[in-house]
Amino acid sequence: MPSLILRLVLIAALILCFCQLPANASRKRQTALVTPINYDSRSTSYTMEIGQRAPMRVLQLMLDIEQDYMWVSCDKRNYSSSTYRPVACGSTLCKSYEHSRCTNCYGPRGPGCNNHTCAVPNPSFELGQDTAALLSSDGSSSGPVARIRRIAFACAAIGNLSFLPRKAAGVAGMSSSTLALPAQLFAAEHFSRKFAMCLPGGQEAGVLSFGGGPLVFVSPAGVDLSSGLIRTPLIKNPVHSSAFYIGVQRVEVNGVHVPIDADKLRIDTKGRGGTKLSTVVQYTQLATPIYNSLVGVFTNVAKKMNISRVASVAPFGACFNLSGVAFTHVGPAVPTINLVLQGNGSTTVWSIFAVNSMVEIKSKVSCLGFVDGGLDPTASIVIGTYQMQDNLLQFDLANSTLGFSSSLYLKQTACSNFNFTTSL
Ligand SMILES: *[C@@H]1O[C@H](CO)[C@@H](O)[C@H](O)[C@H]1NC(C)=O
Ligand SMILES: *[C@@H]1O[C@H](CO)[C@@H](O)[C@H](O)[C@H]1NC(C)=O
Ligand SMILES: *[C@@H]1O[C@H](CO)[C@@H](O)[C@H](O)[C@H]1NC(C)=O
Ligand SMILES: *[C@@H]1O[C@H](CO)[C@@H](O)[C@H](O)[C@H]1NC(C)=O
Ligand SMILES: *[C@@H]1O[C@H](CO)[C@@H](O)[C@H](O)[C@H]1NC(C)=O
Ligand SMILES: *[C@@H]1O[C@H](CO)[C@@H](O)[C@H](O)[C@H]1NC(C)=O
Ligand SMILES: *[C@@H]1O[C@H](CO)[C@@H](O)[C@H](O)[C@H]1NC(C)=O
Repeated sequence: MPSLILRLVLIAALILCFCQLPANASRKRQTALVTPINYDSRSTSYTMEIGQRAPMRVLQLMLDIEQDYMWVSCDKRNYSSSTYRPVACGSTLCKSYEHSRCTNCYGPRGPGCNNHTCAVPNPSFELGQDTAALLSSDGSSSGPVARIRRIAFACAAIGNLSFLPRKAAGVAGMSSSTLALPAQLFAAEHFSRKFAMCLPGGQEAGVLSFGGGPLVFVSPAGVDLSSGLIRTPLIKNPVHSSAFYIGVQRVEVNGVHVPIDADKLRIDTKGRGGTKLSTVVQYTQLATPIYNSLVGVFTNVAKKMNISRVASVAPFGACFNLSGVAFTHVGPAVPTINLVLQGNGSTTVWSIFAVNSMVEIKSKVSCLGFVDGGLDPTASIVIGTYQMQDNLLQFDLANSTLGFSSSLYLKQTACSNFNFTTSL
């Protein structure tokens, strides 16, 4: 019966095909976990996507690199999962976080209300753990969903979430704390202790990647963007020890020095001063004297280029008439602001071009996208998301360094160019 033989051959071929698929897939080494980053215009902040619970739900969480732990809106009606476990107060994980404490609960037992559990402060929330999921990646596209058995988070009884981005169910804490997402994912997956953040400048998704390995975008094809980054040390603030500070040594506008009191650029013993990064601040905030100094120098340099000031538009203090100004691939040809950072002498420079320094108010009128942070803010400079958009940042927690690309536009690419081929 030839038809039976034919069928058997077909079935064998099919089996071979199916066996071949996962074999091929696993040949690509998974070196990272990735997830899209999206901009929310209502809250002017960013969200990342993560799967959680059993059965799995896909959550949007606000990205916050200053927050020490992930927290999720979690009351008994909303939180349903067969894999939720409270974190015991004597556990290593609980003890690893200096602000944790032991708590009891007198309400009906459930997620967020158990006895002898670890709690995180302000206000006190139970620390729980549950299964989570992100996308695996070989560094050039997203692959199959990767499940992580246990990720700790604060089960937060917060009803009003209107301060969060639309649809967000909590916050993804991304600081250098032991409870933050990066540390937990590194412990679970044994990847190198690095995470890369590429905030999109538009409505298309950027990328967040946990782990080392290459990071290749759709274009320019085959180029590992993570290997060409400029590196500067991450500095520990003695008081705000899990926040990411970098050492700005001086600021220049087209090579012209911006006079700044050097003391303001250092972190003092009370944890004041210095330069930190924030994903919840949109426009970089500068202590008043630094702000005035930058606006003064920028205005003078612009004037020499025939770019004149026009009436200011809040919250900005310096706006310019860009009619007649040429266009480059990093925006209108305005003066470049250089942050000269700690590192290898004159080479460690974060260059801020028009795409990251000017905010268009109306046709031909743009404002300097920095704001006055007040006379005595905690950090003298808070670098905000507008200045980090389409700049690939890699936080290396093992070596305490920050890698940055400056504008990816210079490399003919953008944060929206990661090849997401799968989703949660
Ligand atoms: C929690 O449950 C309430 C009532 O079912 C619902 O209106 C609300 O959107 C839920 N919140 C979240 C974050 O899922
Ligand atoms: C915790 O312990 C107290 C005292 O033993 C008890 O009253 C309370 O119901 C317990 N809470 C839970 C959630 O089991
Ligand atoms: C995106 O990744 C998929 C799967 O790896 C690949 O087949 C496809 O060619 C990639 N797309 C681009 C534009 O590189
Ligand atoms: C400084 O330069 C040296 C030699 O060029 C290099 O080995 C080192 O990694 C650089 N350090 C940083 C922080 O970029
Ligand atoms: C600015 O304008 C003046 C007068 O129109 C002109 O002479 C000068 O060359 C211009 N400078 C630049 C840098 O364009
Ligand atoms: C900007 O400059 C152009 C040309 O000099 C002028 O026509 C226009 O009115 C100016 N715009 C503003 C808002 O001042
Ligand atoms: C980071 O540290 C590891 C060992 O701790 C070292 O092998 C590696 O070269 C360092 N990487 C950079 C970029 O300095």
